[in-house]
Amino acid sequence: MSSDYKDFFKVFSQVSKAIHSGGNTTEILGHIVRNIKEILGAKGCIYWIVDRRQEKIETKVSDGFPYRSLANVDYRELNHIFASDQGPIIWIEDAKTDERIPDLDTIGKRSVGSITGMFFDIIGNYAGILAVYFYSHKKLSTEETEILTALGEQGAIALHKAFSYDEKMVQNLRQMVEGFTLALEAKDESTHGHSVRVARFAKSVAEELKLSDTDIETIYHGGLLHDIGKIGMNDDILERLGILSRKEMDIVKLHPVIGARIAKPLNFLNDVVPLILHHHERFDGSGYPDGLKGEFIPLGARILTLCDAVETMLAGRTYFAKMKLEDVIVNLHQNAGAHFDPMIVNAFFNVLEARPEVFDIHINGAERKCLANYRQRMKLVGGPSQPQLFI
Ligand SMILES: [Fe+2]
Ligand SMILES: [Fe+2]
Repeated sequence: MSSDYKDFFKVFSQVSKAIHSGGNTTEILGHIVRNIKEILGAKGCIYWIVDRRQEKIETKVSDGFPYRSLANVDYRELNHIFASDQGPIIWIEDAKTDERIPDLDTIGKRSVGSITGMFFDIIGNYAGILAVYFYSHKKLSTEETEILTALGEQGAIALHKAFSYDEKMVQNLRQMVEGFTLALEAKDESTHGHSVRVARFAKSVAEELKLSDTDIETIYHGGLLHDIGKIGMNDDILERLGILSRKEMDIVKLHPVIGARIAKPLNFLNDVVPLILHHHERFDGSGYPDGLKGEFIPLGARILTLCDAVETMLAGRTYFAKMKLEDVIVNLHQNAGAHFDPMIVNAFFNVLEARPEVFDIHINGAERKCLANYRQRMKLVGGPSQPQLFI
C-alpha cells in the first residue's frame, strides 16, 4: 500500500466517523480539503457548494488559497471554468494560458499551474464542485483521482445529510407559520378557509403550467400565506370590506407590504415573500403596491391574483353574493390582459374543464358549454402569446 493510500484511509475513516456522529459540515469539509491538499501535495484545495436553481455559490471551504485567488470567482465564472458538459472530471493543464480562467488580476492565476475539478450531486438543486491546484502542470494519476473522488463523495454525503436535515427543519417551520396563520384566519367567519382554497387552486394552476415541483410548492405556500398581512388589521375594517371609506381602503391595501415585512426576516420564507408582496398587482399595471406590469409581476404572484379572485367570486363575502360559475368565467375572460394574465386564465380554464372538483364545483351542461365557448374565444384572440389584444 502506498503512503498516499495509508493517509487516505486514515482521513476517510475520520471523515466517516465525523459524518455519522453528526459533525459540523463546515468542519468536515475543512478536514477534507486540508487532507486532500496534503495527501496529493497540492498547493490548494477548495469545495464549492452551488445552488443551481438560484444560480449562486452557497458556500465554499478552502485551504491554501491566498487572497485574490481562484476562491474569489463568482457563480458565472465558476461555471465557465468547470462546465459540467465537459465531463465529470475537468483538467486545466495551465491556468495561466487557459481561456476558461478569467481575469488575471481577480483570480491571481499567476501562481496557479494545473487545476483538476470534479462534480458531486448533493441534494435537489445543490451540487458540489471540488478542485485542487498545483504550481506545476501536474495531471492526477488514476490512484490520485480515486482518492479525490472518494473524499469528495464523503463531503457530498455529509452535505446531503445536513441539507436533508435543513430541509426538514424548514418544512417544519413553514408548517408552524402556516398553522398559525390559518388558525387566525379561522376566526374570521366571512373568509374562513379562504387561504387554504386559494393555495389549492394555485397549486393546480401551477401544475397545469408544468412548473417545477419546487415552484409548485412555493406557490402553494404563497397561497396559504398571501393575506398574512391582514393579521394585524382591525377586525372591524376587515368585516366591512366592500363598504369601506377611501382612508380605510388605503389601510387594507397595505396588507401585501405588511405581509412581506412579516415574512422577510424568516429565511425559510424567502421565496414566498415576492408572492405575498405582489398578489394584488394587475397584469395591466394598475394594481398595488408597486404597479408592476405583465411579466414583471412574479409568475407565482400572477397565479395567486387569479386564484384569490376566483375563490372570492365563488365563495362570496358578507358584502356580495356568490357568483354563478358562468359569471366567473365571463369575468375572467373580460379581465384577461387587464386584471389577469391571459396565460393564467387559459391554464385556469383548462383545469376547470378537466378537474372541476379542485374548485369544489360540479359543472353542469350549460356551464360546460359556456366554458368551451370562452376557451374558444381566448384562442381566437391569440391566447397567451398576444396578451395586448385583450386590453
Ligand atoms: Fe390579499
Ligand atoms: Fe386573499
